[in-house]
Amino acid sequence: MKEVIAKVLKKALKKVKINLNEEEIEKLIEIPPSQEMGDYSFPCFFLAEKLKQEPNQIALEIREKIGNPPVMDFEDVQTSGPYINFFLNRKDFARKLVWEVLTQKGKFGKINLGKRKKIIVEFSSPNIAKPFGIGHLRSTIIGNSIANICEFEGFKAIRMNYLGDWGAQFGKLLLGYEKFGSETKLQKNPMKHLLEIYVKINKSKRYEKKSKEWFKKLEEGDKKALMLWKVFKQLSLHDFKKIYKILGVKFDDYTGESSYSKRMKKIVEELKEKNLLKKSQGAEIVDLNEFGLGICLIEKTDGTTLYATRDISAAIARYKKYQFEKMIYEVGQEQNLYFRQVFKVLELAGYKWAKNCIHAGHGLYLGKDGKKFSTRKGKTVFIKDILEETISLAKKEIKKRFPSITKRKLEERALKIAIAAIFYGDLKNSRSNDIVFDIKRFISFEGDTGPYVQYSYARASSILKKTKNQDKFKVYDLEQKELELVKKLSQFPDIVLNSYKNLSPSIIANYSYQLAKIFNEFYHTCPVIGSKQESFRLALVEAFRQILKSALRLLGIDVIEEM
Ligand code: ARG
Repeated sequence: MKEVIAKVLKKALKKVKINLNEEEIEKLIEIPPSQEMGDYSFPCFFLAEKLKQEPNQIALEIREKIGNPPVMDFEDVQTSGPYINFFLNRKDFARKLVWEVLTQKGKFGKINLGKRKKIIVEFSSPNIAKPFGIGHLRSTIIGNSIANICEFEGFKAIRMNYLGDWGAQFGKLLLGYEKFGSETKLQKNPMKHLLEIYVKINKSKRYEKKSKEWFKKLEEGDKKALMLWKVFKQLSLHDFKKIYKILGVKFDDYTGESSYSKRMKKIVEELKEKNLLKKSQGAEIVDLNEFGLGICLIEKTDGTTLYATRDISAAIARYKKYQFEKMIYEVGQEQNLYFRQVFKVLELAGYKWAKNCIHAGHGLYLGKDGKKFSTRKGKTVFIKDILEETISLAKKEIKKRFPSITKRKLEERALKIAIAAIFYGDLKNSRSNDIVFDIKRFISFEGDTGPYVQYSYARASSILKKTKNQDKFKVYDLEQKELELVKKLSQFPDIVLNSYKNLSPSIIANYSYQLAKIFNEFYHTCPVIGSKQESFRLALVEAFRQILKSALRLLGIDVIEEM
């Protein structure tokens, strides 16, 4: 609708010698706080200086230049002080919108901004031989949603999992396994055993030297070291994939850090040739102090490589392979300086695409006590345990409502609700904020939660199930709540675009909640079945279902028909 208004305004503005394009005008259009002030409004303050007139005067003048707006779209256009208020032909607007949603279904709101160009979204990236912790859960949830949103806007999203499968910690693990490892334990519960070993070896400083030697051996391709490393990797990956399957998250590419370990020499050579390297206490560094970014360590004194070197090499290889339009790293905010260093080194090395690399950082999960969640009582929190706890809470809720539900249905539904609880509990917050990870609150069927939003979908489904009415719909004068719902639905395309621009799934999450709330108000004030407006209201309920489903899909959440 904004496009139509922008068109009308563009013409009128031209007549007072203001040249703005439609996109610029659309950005200025506001939604008035109450419906008596129209459906959209255009504030004129910003023109005062240029036109050397009072904003009120300008509004009157532009209104006059608009002349008779097309009756098909507008009932009226009025001024109110410095604002020009547009009153839509609401019936027509509602009819068009609902019709569009019902015919386009899941495609409603989709645009082709990306023209199938590639965006790499790197996310999750857990570390091999360590449990999949809560920090990686956040990256998994947010990164997955960002990739979904990019796809919706017409890009080809490459979902990349940069496994932490190389680095000095493997020296520790190999040494640890030599000292405390047991094959039977490894077979029985690999992740638990590997963690045990890792904790033990980290207890004392006296293992440090030997660990470094093991890592050097690994980098030099020692057979035994490599074989063990491979076993650890396979066992971990198997475990991670199980988790992704439960969460409904997929990847296109699992190329981890280890793949870049052999290209190190080349990178070090390249940076040397480009005059970027400096010796500092025996190590090779890039000095980024003049950019306020400290120093970036490239090669250690013993010749082993580093996290940054692997990242630089990985970025170059990825560009070669994908020629990405953008590359988004969804990684904790604590690595922000680090990524700025990596991007800067790439830029200094002459890679023009370095400016298209983005670190989309996230804040921490906190416990209810406000302290960092993962270190609570010094224990690692396993994602598996969190899932299990959430699922069992969901089951309790479901059984209260459906005491005789079959076991299979119970399992299926509980999982969907648990995922909605966890994903939504995260995504409703700004990515960069720290959030309190509180499963009991997340799982509640009331308030700003995933299950509440799912519940309003199920409620809409149950209304539709009660009727066989297939009549073509006719729109009568709209009641306030109907109009509010129609308008909210019409915002969906803008909401997704905005969340893409800001890499902020929270915009969609918050929208879903507001939409669900308005739907529930509509449902309480506007009887559907048996009313004069039945045909339209049924269509409106169906349109609501469709858009809520699309929105939740972008967040990685499934809908449920009955709840
Ligand atoms: N595996 C790393 C960690 O757990 C995250 C990897 C982030 N991505 C990257 N390209 N460095 O901290």
